Amino acid sequence: MAPRLFVLLLFCLATLPRDAAALTRRDFPDGFIFGAGTSAFQVEGAAAEGGRKPSIWDTFTHQGYSFDKSTADISADQYHHYKDDVKLMHEMGLDAYRFSIAWPRLIPDGRGEINPKGLEYYNNLIDELIRHGIEPHVTIYHFDLPQSLQDEYNGLLSPRFIDDYTAYAEACFKSFGDRVKHWVTVNEPNIETIGGLDSGVLPPQRCSHPFGNCTWGDSTTEPYIAAHHLLLAHASAVSLYRAKYQATQRGQIGITLLGWWHEPATNSSEDAAAAMRMNDFHIGWFMHPLVYGDYPAVMRSRVGARLPDFTAEQSKKLPGSFDFVGFNHYLVVRARAHDSAFNMKQRDYYADAYAIANPFDDIQEGRLEYAPWALGRLLDHLKLKYGNPPVMIHENGYADASELPRKVEYDDDDRSEFLQDYLEVLYLSIRNGSNARGYFVWSFLDVFEFLFGYRMRFGLCGVDMDGEGRTRYVRNSGRWYSGFLKGGELRPAGKAYVAA
Ligand SMILES: *[C@@H]1O[C@H](CO)[C@@H](O)[C@H](O)[C@H]1NC(C)=O
Ligand SMILES: *[C@@H]1O[C@H](CO)[C@@H](O)[C@H](O)[C@H]1NC(C)=O
Ligand SMILES: *[C@@H]1O[C@H](CO)[C@@H](O)[C@H](O)[C@H]1NC(C)=O
Repeated sequence: MAPRLFVLLLFCLATLPRDAAALTRRDFPDGFIFGAGTSAFQVEGAAAEGGRKPSIWDTFTHQGYSFDKSTADISADQYHHYKDDVKLMHEMGLDAYRFSIAWPRLIPDGRGEINPKGLEYYNNLIDELIRHGIEPHVTIYHFDLPQSLQDEYNGLLSPRFIDDYTAYAEACFKSFGDRVKHWVTVNEPNIETIGGLDSGVLPPQRCSHPFGNCTWGDSTTEPYIAAHHLLLAHASAVSLYRAKYQATQRGQIGITLLGWWHEPATNSSEDAAAAMRMNDFHIGWFMHPLVYGDYPAVMRSRVGARLPDFTAEQSKKLPGSFDFVGFNHYLVVRARAHDSAFNMKQRDYYADAYAIANPFDDIQEGRLEYAPWALGRLLDHLKLKYGNPPVMIHENGYADASELPRKVEYDDDDRSEFLQDYLEVLYLSIRNGSNARGYFVWSFLDVFEFLFGYRMRFGLCGVDMDGEGRTRYVRNSGRWYSGFLKGGELRPAGKAYVAA
């Protein structure tokens, strides 16, 4: 090509009107991390292999409590397919893979000896990721409490959990911290405690009348006690990491919360107050202690003596005990003030929201309210109320809950649309001052979706869960995400998402 023509062409290209709304990953801040995730119990399989012992989720699923009565004994079998999976991640162009370490695989009895086979598996997975240029972002505890600790002292309900958790976390820092630069202490403590100890629909299935039908438990006190121990366990692991490992290993550590956003159902001031209350019970329960050293005032006033106290020393240790906070964001919940219908002395949270939308019902029916603007509200809330901490969107994704039998499905353009809508909102929030640092699609692969078993599929990659070889295949959304990660554009905006 003649040089002059080339220059002319360049000039024409440079002056083409660029669609301002066609975002690419270069519009996100430098160092912004794009990834996808799974968790150990959901993806690994090999439940009784390599010295792994049961977690409370193995017990629960073996008793037939997931909605489709399935177990995660094999699931996507990443334990045997991790090399193929890392290769797929590399081809897709992920910066990072978010996964968790199975406590009952690394320390099968909950405390004591490290299981060499478990150590070997995670070393292999981490090394394979690093060889392919993918950052491991590791959750230390993601729901799969060793059954032995549940049997011995009721798990989260005992303060003994704090020491056992801290020792387990230290085993992770010591074994993997030379290569792992992003740690999450605990995943979604705000739903683990509600599901396991209030409604009792998740293991260890504790609750009390009239909030659920369990053989044991106390819905009015136990969720608060368990959350208290989880907060203290988190703070304990963070202070240990900072004291002994962070200077040499140079990693970051945080915690990941479920980030439902509560929005008033109407314009009434009562509903606005209900939505704020719900956000304080759901998000503030953990964020307030982590930033200010105590539970939100509305929790202190409503829960009263049932809400545990922090000692002066604990109140000092909590604030700032994170380098980032992760949020798993899926839903908006409409809140309607419902004070009169509930005895707040017994039921302090959820009462408001149940009036209009029971999120569990919505999920079961596959009717997730599609509200990308709610992610913006959540980030704004964190900015205004909690000092704009660095945030990782650790989960966000689209469930396909179509009928069984499961079939191989490539065509998931709704999922690609969903991801683009959320990425657009995320971009706008960052431009508006939010401190978001990363975004992880849930999920990299189809996995066992806890209570929903295999009925819900979130994967950028599908897995043939009925086939012996658990064959993987990249869905259209996986191809779309890959294109974006490699510099492609979001489809032109125009669906500016504002709250309805
Ligand atoms: C408990 O079980 C009874 C009888 O099966 C049922 O009517 C009630 O709705 C259940 N309560 C809850 C909170 O699930
Ligand atoms: C809230 O008020 C605005 C304007 O005052 C109105 O347009 C909107 O429909 C109202 N929304 C609800 C849910 O009542
Ligand atoms: C931008 O942030 C401010 C508060 O910092 C908030 O009031 C405003 O609603 C945000 N705008 C958008 C478009 O999110």
